[in-house]
Amino acid sequence: MPNPSVPGPRSVPSAWWADAVVYQIYPRSFADGNGDGMGDLRGVLHRLPYLEELGVDAIWLSPFYKSPQADGGYDVADYRQVDPLFGTLADFDAMLQEAHRRGLKVIVDLVPNHTSDEHIWFQEALAAGPGSPERERYIFRDGKDDVPGSGDGRLAPNNWKSIFGGPAWSRLTEVDGSPGQWYLHLFDTRQPDLNWENPEVHEEMRSVLRFWLDRGADGFRVDVAHGLVKEAGLPDWDGAASMVEGTTGPHRESHLPGDAPHAHTDAEEPHRAVSPMYPPSPFFDQDGVHAIYRDWNRVLAEYGGDRMMVAEAWVEPAERLARYVRPDEMQQAFNFDFLLAGWDAERMAEAISASLAAAASVGSPCTWVLSNHDTVRHSTRFGLKDPTTFPKGIGAGDEQPDAALGLARARAATLVALALPGSAYLYQGEELGLPEHTTLPASARQDPTFFRTRGAEIGRDGCRVPLPWAEGEPGFGFSSGHSGQASEPWLPQPDSFGPLAADQQEGEEGSTLELYRDAIAFRSAHHLGQGTVRWTEEHAPDSGLLAFRNGDAIVVSNLGFASAPVPEGYSVALSSGPGPADDRAAMREVPVDCTVYLLPD
Ligand code: BGC
Repeated sequence: MPNPSVPGPRSVPSAWWADAVVYQIYPRSFADGNGDGMGDLRGVLHRLPYLEELGVDAIWLSPFYKSPQADGGYDVADYRQVDPLFGTLADFDAMLQEAHRRGLKVIVDLVPNHTSDEHIWFQEALAAGPGSPERERYIFRDGKDDVPGSGDGRLAPNNWKSIFGGPAWSRLTEVDGSPGQWYLHLFDTRQPDLNWENPEVHEEMRSVLRFWLDRGADGFRVDVAHGLVKEAGLPDWDGAASMVEGTTGPHRESHLPGDAPHAHTDAEEPHRAVSPMYPPSPFFDQDGVHAIYRDWNRVLAEYGGDRMMVAEAWVEPAERLARYVRPDEMQQAFNFDFLLAGWDAERMAEAISASLAAAASVGSPCTWVLSNHDTVRHSTRFGLKDPTTFPKGIGAGDEQPDAALGLARARAATLVALALPGSAYLYQGEELGLPEHTTLPASARQDPTFFRTRGAEIGRDGCRVPLPWAEGEPGFGFSSGHSGQASEPWLPQPDSFGPLAADQQEGEEGSTLELYRDAIAFRSAHHLGQGTVRWTEEHAPDSGLLAFRNGDAIVVSNLGFASAPVPEGYSVALSSGPGPADDRAAMREVPVDCTVYLLPD
């Protein structure tokens, strides 16, 4: 018996973000406006008409701030400056103004967990020495003695590991040349963690928020939102560090002890998901982070225009994530449960139901996301033998995907995501059906995870390859906004990008680009973003079928092994399959690995 309905928020917020389709721009790889082979803000400006035509409501830009680029810009040296690689503040202002003129909102990235080691604060901390107020802005500690009582401080203060591999502590050499204190970095050595026990850090980040709000930013994507506060005393922890709370590795099935999300009251907070072997980590999803987001909520409220924040918080179960989007905290959080479900009907149906229910419990709309700059593109993940796996990068020596199968499933999954109530996030290039670059040479790799794990983790470069805009041009037109000779794109593009270039798909019936445009237009025309999900009679995840009603549409997604009938009285209005539109009206079956939008006859 299908579950008849999934709760939606009691009253859907009417703000623009509640049902927005947001397009993620990874500035290094979106479009190059000055011909240096690196994407930039002028490139974004130049391509705004493309985004307007795609039909998205907003763009989110990954960091473009001054940075030595040790982690693709997530190592910020100055939160108030644009890195010369990407342009100037004037370029940002021009881009934002033009985006607004075209009706697009602009979300910028905020990186509050850590700075770059080149940030003035870290440089001052190094110079000022132990015990100074400058060191109090970060998490400096004396080391433990290797030889007890010797005061040698040779051992790290605790056993935490970096998310990027290796230890989470590095030892300094003090200015006088002596071996010095250690500092915490949950990510790269060049990304020291800020000390959120220090009011000065709070003051500074509020001021950074105001800086971008004053310039007209409509919102913030908050990086590592679950990581800012660390457990008092920094206790040892024996789990293996991963972005997903309490996990022991990249594969989700290995860490969930099968605990279905459970109901909770205000008095009893939902429990954090823990591995069967380890308690929750002392550096993620600490209750203390929520006071910070309440504070920021008040800052945003000083500004008009429904400014918003979206949390990047890899937190489980869904009830724990819902705490980040309580009415006085952030407006949205990325729904990674949906992303992690993979191409599997039961897991996807469960993620949809659980996420909608958890979000509804705090009166917030859901978000839906399948790809981003940290994950293997969903068109590639879904072409692997097990389309629920979540590899940390794919290299030439790893299993290679079935590209056609992966693309068919990716298109089908996207149609599911775009038909769900709430807000959808798209990652640049997925609208072209771009695959992960799975054969990048080691010499081209830049992701610190590749180096810190000595290649054991291939890393995220494969999803960050510069976009192909025009098949016949050098670099597939990545630098086509520029008139002179252009440099090679900063990461090499695979040959498979050529036929997928935007100019090859533009106006081509059945192309992925046209499918995305049609799906976004359908979503908007039928108000799917503001609707509710009601599973229909056909819904049978155990046989691979997802089927739900949203408004006047029925969505059927076939993740099974046999085609499924189109319900009587309905016709296919949009299909993720490759056939021409004329065939769709006559379709009476939903093929395997296909999603259709149905309307009553
Ligand atoms: C970002 C990553 C980044 C990390 C450290 C994240 O989760 O999305 O790209 O490497 O935070 O800032």
